[in-house]
Amino acid sequence: MATIGRLVSGCRPRSKQSLAAILGFTDLLLENPAIPETAREDLQIILHETQRTKDIVQDLLSFARQRPVQRELVQLNNVLRQTIKLRSYDFASHGVEVTESFEDDLAPALGDAQQLQQVFLNILNNAYDAVQESGQRGHIAISTKRDGDSLEVAISDNGTGITDPQRIFDPFYTTKQVGKARDWA
Ligand SMILES: Nc1ncnc2c1ncn2[C@@H]1O[C@H](COP(=O)(O)OP(=O)(O)OP(=O)(O)O)[C@@H](O)[C@H]1O
Ligand SMILES: [Mg+2]
Repeated sequence: MATIGRLVSGCRPRSKQSLAAILGFTDLLLENPAIPETAREDLQIILHETQRTKDIVQDLLSFARQRPVQRELVQLNNVLRQTIKLRSYDFASHGVEVTESFEDDLAPALGDAQQLQQVFLNILNNAYDAVQESGQRGHIAISTKRDGDSLEVAISDNGTGITDPQRIFDPFYTTKQVGKARDWA
């Protein structure tokens, strides 16, 4: 996400200038009485599509905007519920069942809710991929509990199992095919 943020921020000033120039010159042409009506319709399309491109760049930037890490009190159970909700439609339509076993009145944790949500989402997606691959009815179990001064979140699945557990923190380790795109992202 940080990399996307840097990339988009770097491109924005230039793309903004180019888009502003296209919009400006198209506007000028539209005001020119010498332009025939047929060309005018095409110019309207150029204007409309350029505006759309501007909106896309803006959306991409706000999606990946780098923000300072927050340190706030976070209710882990709520963050987990929100994360599950993001994927619930896809899970249900592929027959993947999610069970929650959350400890009531869990103390809040100090952290960044958005970053935690990204972590949980990635783990949940991995679990989903693993159960899809295994071919049997998918089941993902999520639990929370207090353990002394710590809070524990456990996410398990009945999928293929992790082949190389010692490699999972290697940032480039994957057993998935190159280019396997996530269409929800
Ligand atoms: N729940 C799981 N069951 C089985 N294997 C897993 C599970 N979670 C992770 N893995 C293994 O760890 C690898 C690395 O996971 P990671 O999330 O870092 O990347 P990825 O899922 O392959 O790609 P991406 O997350 O970018 O789509 C996976 O390719 C898979 O082999
Ligand atoms: Mg993954």
